[in-house]
Parts: sequence; structure tokens; C-alpha cells
Amino acid sequence: MAFFKPSLVFCSVLTFLSLNCGPSHVFAKVYMVVMEDDPVISYKVNRKHVMRGEEAQKYKQVATTKHDSFLDSFLPMGSYKKLYSYTHLINGFALHAESEKTVRILSRAKGVRLIQEDIKMVKMTTHTPNYIGASGVWPLLGGAENSGDGVVIGMIDTGIDPKNPSFVSSNLSSQAKSPPASFKGTCRAGNRFPPDSCNGKIVGARWFARAAQATGEFNATVHYASPYDSDGHGSHTASIAAGNFHTPVISGGYSFGYASGMAPGARLAIYKAAYPFGGYMSDVIAAVDQAVEDGVDVISLSMAPSAVSSGPASFLNLLEAQLLLATKAGVSVVQAVGNAGPDENTIVSFSPWILSVAASTTDRKYRKSIIIGNGKAFSCGALSAPTPGETMYPLAWADDVIVENSTDDGWYNKCRDPRIFIKPLVQGKLIVCMFDSSDYYDDISLSSIIDTIQKIGAAGVIITDHSSHDVDIEFEPTFPTTVPSAILLKGSDMRALLRYYNNNTVRDDDGNVVSFGATARILEGRHATYTGESPVVADYSSRGPDVENSQMQPAEVLKPNVMAPGHLIWGAWSPTSTALPEIHGESYALLSGTSMAAPHVAGVAALIKQRHPAWSPAMIMSAIMTTADATDRSGRPLMARGEEGSLDPATPFDMGAGAVNAARALDPGLVFDAGYLDHLQFLCAVPGVDDAAVLRAVGAPCPPPRAGGAARWCSDLNSPSVTVASLVGSRRVERRVTSVGAQNETYAAYVRAPEGVAVRVSPAQFAIAPGATRALRIVLNTTAPGNAFSFGEVVLRGDRKHHVRIPLAVYPAGTLGP
Ligand SMILES: *[C@@H]1O[C@H](CO)[C@@H](O)[C@H](O)[C@H]1NC(C)=O
Ligand SMILES: *[C@@H]1O[C@H](CO)[C@@H](O)[C@H](O)[C@H]1NC(C)=O
Ligand SMILES: *[C@@H]1O[C@H](CO)[C@@H](O)[C@H](O)[C@H]1NC(C)=O
Ligand SMILES: *[C@@H]1O[C@H](CO)[C@@H](O)[C@H](O)[C@H]1NC(C)=O
Ligand SMILES: *[C@@H]1O[C@H](CO)[C@@H](O)[C@H](O)[C@H]1NC(C)=O
Ligand SMILES: *[C@@H]1O[C@H](CO)[C@@H](O)[C@H](O)[C@H]1NC(C)=O
Repeated sequence: MAFFKPSLVFCSVLTFLSLNCGPSHVFAKVYMVVMEDDPVISYKVNRKHVMRGEEAQKYKQVATTKHDSFLDSFLPMGSYKKLYSYTHLINGFALHAESEKTVRILSRAKGVRLIQEDIKMVKMTTHTPNYIGASGVWPLLGGAENSGDGVVIGMIDTGIDPKNPSFVSSNLSSQAKSPPASFKGTCRAGNRFPPDSCNGKIVGARWFARAAQATGEFNATVHYASPYDSDGHGSHTASIAAGNFHTPVISGGYSFGYASGMAPGARLAIYKAAYPFGGYMSDVIAAVDQAVEDGVDVISLSMAPSAVSSGPASFLNLLEAQLLLATKAGVSVVQAVGNAGPDENTIVSFSPWILSVAASTTDRKYRKSIIIGNGKAFSCGALSAPTPGETMYPLAWADDVIVENSTDDGWYNKCRDPRIFIKPLVQGKLIVCMFDSSDYYDDISLSSIIDTIQKIGAAGVIITDHSSHDVDIEFEPTFPTTVPSAILLKGSDMRALLRYYNNNTVRDDDGNVVSFGATARILEGRHATYTGESPVVADYSSRGPDVENSQMQPAEVLKPNVMAPGHLIWGAWSPTSTALPEIHGESYALLSGTSMAAPHVAGVAALIKQRHPAWSPAMIMSAIMTTADATDRSGRPLMARGEEGSLDPATPFDMGAGAVNAARALDPGLVFDAGYLDHLQFLCAVPGVDDAAVLRAVGAPCPPPRAGGAARWCSDLNSPSVTVASLVGSRRVERRVTSVGAQNETYAAYVRAPEGVAVRVSPAQFAIAPGATRALRIVLNTTAPGNAFSFGEVVLRGDRKHHVRIPLAVYPAGTLGP
């Protein structure tokens, strides 16, 4: 079955029922079409010949002209608009088609390999109030300013604000001001993006919006027809990956310290393909095609499709297939794993060639205290200024200082309307406002409370939860305020505050307050404290198992691969952004999401690439995974935040191999390498995927089965993890390790077997010389069938201190019956 057929069949059956497919006059959709002709990269390979600049440009032009004449010959004029020709990694085009008939004609046309309907992409920032050791390796790499030098990170995101201090080039060493010779990208100037924006730190910048324009969502006035970031997300992620070293972070007029990217010496190539409303896969594919052609070393993607696409396998949607070709071209691809946790099966970055990153908290906290008149102190959140001096301020519950006849919208809206407050009663007081904690991620309602307090001339605000539950939610502020504010969410504290208030407030017979005797003051909340706590998987970080298809069958691929800080991360922001009204005009923002975690790992990949330029993307991924920390310094397992604040030991489906450890990743000892053919072999082993489907998606046939005729399993892909989705009886898993150490080293295998599974690694001990490769076999047997995945690990401990850890995730489904 052709890849596109399922959705096409669905459409024709429902033509007059479904709004999506609808009658032809409301049809108008974007499709991506892949042709059978070679793209530039496989043309090179097939001809055993490398096309250089001019020849490749000529080939691109020929391919583009062929697309135009193909469309011209098959489709009626005016029934379509070609948006892009893709020529580098794939040979095809994106098309805005007016009618379903167009698609039907194309699907029958000779030379068409695959058609896929465009799909919406979503950014992976939670937009909510929402220590990895890189600086430890900077000295090894020539100092902070040179760490990542020579490496180009391609950011496929919402663009960049070139004027942000994180991207100005004054702090780059002089040799760093010109782009690396291998980079061929260009700089498209435009609105708020003058030609000097490509300043050595930013080496290339383009924008891709034709699908967003075709759907009518792109508006040049607000989204800028240039690489300029109108959203903030792209500047934020770029600064995390490669922002300048030691850039002052100032927000709300307050200095929050200094920010540095993970690879402060790396360069940034900007491919703007997402907008405040999200993006489209056809624009993203154009961006990836260009990035690889330009010669980036690493691609950082903090967005993903909004759903698992239909078709035989999640790994074969056009973007995943294109990213396989990007890794084949030597480019490491890092992607956010998704923000749909803590539910299982919520991964949106599917394929084993992509380094998919989960988000953790860091040990930085912004806590503050309020002190009340009886001397008690409560710890609470809020990134705000203190009340001036050591003065105690009178305290008033909002209910006691609003006009009685005000329209009662309930507690919820009271502190959002300055008009209902009795001005003489509120001036100089601290007002206590109610807030719904189910809604405590809502910056907008919080900022409207702050705004009200400012307008009525109160001294500050204490915000507490009306439901007064006893769960100790730590409020996590996301934007600084100059209005003194404090958020108190612990039920027992709130009740103590109320008792104190009632004790000291004198009322008349009608309940009106005659005298306010309670007092309090708010302390400084903008100083970070570093608690030394281990990272915890953030609740929203998407969880495994990875899925094979839209029926959500578990895949034999470990996702996420690794975890990095994503929670409450300071990064660059666009002052023109309206995404977060309360920080409009600011240049730095505190954001959360797997969007923030991915560029941390992209930066670490750049450091590894600088140190080991010849390493393949799979070797870089292996180095990052096998050296990640799964336990904290005292050996306790890292934890994951789940439903309703629960905290449980993190499994590989929460954090992948663990928390990224940049210092160790530079010197992993052994790596598990895998190339394009290994990945093809993997694809051909996916249940329900036949050779034809692989050929259509990636343009290459399945390689012949390996010698020995062993059953082909997805679990045999040479990855630094083992996932078996259904272990019945016994499974033999093959691996190959390559020594990247400088000396001979002897390794011994230690196993922590998953519950219900026996594991044997052979050889149990081996010596390996630098550069040598050797086979490992891991045999897994079900000993006690269960009804869930269970987890373990194999650690290869070298006698020269290398520890190579690979996580195991096995579903022991059954023993071999009689
Ligand atoms: C684009 O945005 C501007 C500013 O919000 C608005 O005035 C204009 O009407 C919008 N244009 C379109 C075509 O929607
Ligand atoms: C450049 O680096 C120095 C410290 O090395 C720092 O004081 C300065 O603020 C930095 N300038 C910018 C624009 O980042
Ligand atoms: C509320 O009552 C006050 C007098 O207590 C009166 O002046 C005002 O007009 C009333 N407002 C509304 C909206 O009824
Ligand atoms: C309230 O007042 C009573 C009597 O004056 C006192 O015992 C109690 O501790 C007070 N409680 C608080 C919370 O201030
Ligand atoms: C590794 O061991 C082999 C012999 O087993 C020896 O010939 C070789 O020189 C050693 N290499 C290094 C780097 O020590
Ligand atoms: C797994 O089972 C096979 C027989 O089915 C046996 O030969 C082998 O020793 C077992 N391995 C482990 C690790 O239990």
C-alpha cells in the first residue's frame, strides 16, 4: 500500500461528510510530494562522485525545472501553487492544491514516489510558570569563548533577535568572526534583520513560511518577513545552545546573573520555520533541506508534529525520513521529545537516528518568605521585589476592601478588576488575593492580579489558593515583578495566615472591618538559591514507550534518549514578542519545556563534534547516552515527577539513559556506532513495514539480510540501549562496540536485570585496543511474565575508568510454552 493511500481513501469516502476533506471549493491543502529522481546527496553517492558547488547548483536547477514542467503537464493551470522544490536531501516539492482531484492525479502520475499531507508542527515550550557540566569541559576546548568553535548549529525554530546580547559578536575571539570554511549558508536580510545581523556568531539566517502563508496564518506585520524572531522561542533555544559566554541577564530591571550557551564558541545558523501559531511540516522540511545543504553540523529542533502521522510507521513520516538522510550526511539531529507527560506513550520524536531529549528541573530555586506580625514566616514563590525597608505593612483580605455591590464573579475575578477596590482602604496595604491552583500555570491571570495591585496603589500582594489543599505545591514564578508579591500555596500556611488575620481584624456586627490590625512584609524573591538537589524529570516531559505507528504500538526503540535541563531556564527573548504579555519588551525570559532541554544537548553535541570532528551522529549520540547519569552523587536513583506532584524513581521511559553529563560525554571509552545501512535494516524489521514502504519513504531498498540468516529484529539496531516490546521466551540482541579510548582497556559487564527477565552478556569480559570494534551479545530470557515493561541496565566497566551504561527496557510477555 502506498504511504499516502490510507488518508486518501479516508478522504474520498468522507468527501461530503468531513469538514477536513470537504467539497472541493473548501479543500485547499498543502501536500508534500517526493519524486523518484535522486536528490543531490544520493546523486553523489550513486555516481561515486561528489558534486561540488556549481555542479550541485546546476543539478538543483534542473530538478526544480523538472518539478515545474511535471506539474505543468499533469495539472490544470490555477489548480495548484508550488510552494517549494526540495532538492538536497529529498527530491520533491510542496504543493498547495485547490482540489482533491489534484492529489488523485498526482498519486497516479509516473515518477511520484510518495505523497504526504502537510501536518501542523508544535513548539515544545510549556509557556507556563514553568547543571550538566558543560562549563567543566570548556577549559579542555580552549576556554569558554572557543568551546564549540568551528561547529555550526542549525536552529530550526522561530528565528532570532540578532540584537540580543547573547548573539552580538563583540565577545567572539577574532578568528571566530568569519564562518567556518565548511559552511556555505547565506544571510537573508529583511525587516528588523539588517545585513550585519550575520555577525560571526550568527553565520546564516533564512526563513520559510510558504505553507504558513498558504494557510493564511502568516501575517508579515506581526510575524516579520525576515529571520527576525517575533515569538521569542527561537532566540531562547539558540541562546541555550550557543549563546555568548557570560552575558548579563536583566529582566524587569533586575539583574539575574549571567547566561552562557552550552557551546559559547559555536556558531548559529538560523532557519526560521515556526511562528507564534506553530508551523507546518512542509516549511520545516524546506528548512532542514537548506540547513544540510548549507553545511550545519548539528540540527536543533524544538518542535514536532502535532500527532503521530498515519502510515505504516511513525519512523517513515516524511520529516523522520528526511532527518535520517540528514544524519546520513553527517549531521547530528537533536529534538525535543514532547510536552505531553506524564502520560505514557506521549513521545513525538520517534526515530532511533534522532537524539530525543526529555526535560528535567535544575537545582536552582527562587524562593522567598513573608513574615507576619506575630513573627511567623512562610516560605513561598514569586520572582519579585521585597516590600521596602523592614516596615510591617497592614494586611487586608481582598473581600474586605472591595465595594459590596460589585458584580460578584466569585473569588476568581476579584483581584483582576481595579475598579471594585475602595481606594482609601487599599493604599499602602498588602492585599491577599485568591487564585485557583489548577490554574497556577496561567501567567496571564497572574499578571492581571499584579496589574490590579499596581493600579490601586497597594503595597503588594499575597496570592493564595482558594482551595486550600494540603499538597505542598511549590509555586514556580516565571516573570519578575517590581510589585512586591508572594504566592502561598501550602494549605496549612494559608489557614495559619487566615487565623492570624481574623484574630487581628476588628469587625462590626455586619462583618465590615472596623480596624485592620494584621501586618506582614515580603522579602526579596529574585535571588536564586542552589539547593544541590538532583535533577527531576519534569511532569510535562513526554514519556515512553516510543510508538511504532498511530495505533500506538510500542516500538523497540528507547525514547527519550537522554534528559537535560528544561525547567525554568533563562534564555534570550524577543522584546517585540507578544507571546507572554507580562514580559513584553524584555530581552531575557524564564521558560520551561522540552524545547529548552533539546538545545542543551545540541550544544553538548557541538562540543563533542569540536573535540572529535570525525565522529558520526550515532557515535555522538552514543557518547551522550552511555555517559549520562541515572543516579545522583550519592547513588540514589534520579526521580520523575508524575501525576499530581507524585515523585517516583525515573525509568528509561522518563529520562532515557539519564541526565546528560557533558564532561563524561567527551570521553566515553566505547561507542555504539550505526550508519545509514543499519538504520535501513532497522526500518525493514519494523512489523508492518515492507520493502516497498521503505523504498518510498527513503528512496533506498532494504539491504539483504545479514549473513547467518538471523531473524531481523528492530532490537538489533546497534544503539546504546535495548528495548524489547514483547519478550516471549528468549531474545538474542547483537551489539558492536568501538573503542574511542586512547589506550588498551579491559571491560567487564555488570548486569542489573529487569524484573522477570534473565540477562546474560557475552563476552562477560573483554580487552579492546584503541579503534578496535568487537561484537557483544546480550541474551534476554523471560523468567516471570508480567504485564508491564520492566527496566534494568548493562554497565561495561573499563579498567581505565570508563563506565559505559546502556539501559534495558523489556516487556516479559511470556515464557516459551510447552
Ligand atoms: C496583520 O496584522 C496586523 C496587526 O495586527 C493587522 O492590522 C492586519 O489586519 C493583519 N493582516 C491580515 C491580513 O490579517
Ligand atoms: C563579554 O565577556 C565579559 C567577560 O568575559 C563580560 O563582562 C561582558 O559582559 C561580555 N559582554 C557581552 C556583550 O556579553
Ligand atoms: C455601589 O454602591 C455605591 C454606594 O455604596 C454606589 O455609589 C454605587 O453607584 C454602586 N455601584 C453599583 C455598580 O451599583
Ligand atoms: C489568636 O488569638 C488567640 C488569643 O488571643 C491566641 O491564643 C492565638 O495564638 C492567636 N492565633 C494566631 C494565629 O495569631
Ligand atoms: C595494546 O595491546 C597490544 C597487545 O595486546 C599491544 O601490541 C599494543 O601496543 C597496545 N596498545 C597500546 C596503545 O597500549
Ligand atoms: C535462556 O534460555 C536458553 C534456553 O531457552 C538457555 O540456553 C540460556 O542459558 C538462557 N539464558 C539465560 C540468561 O537465562
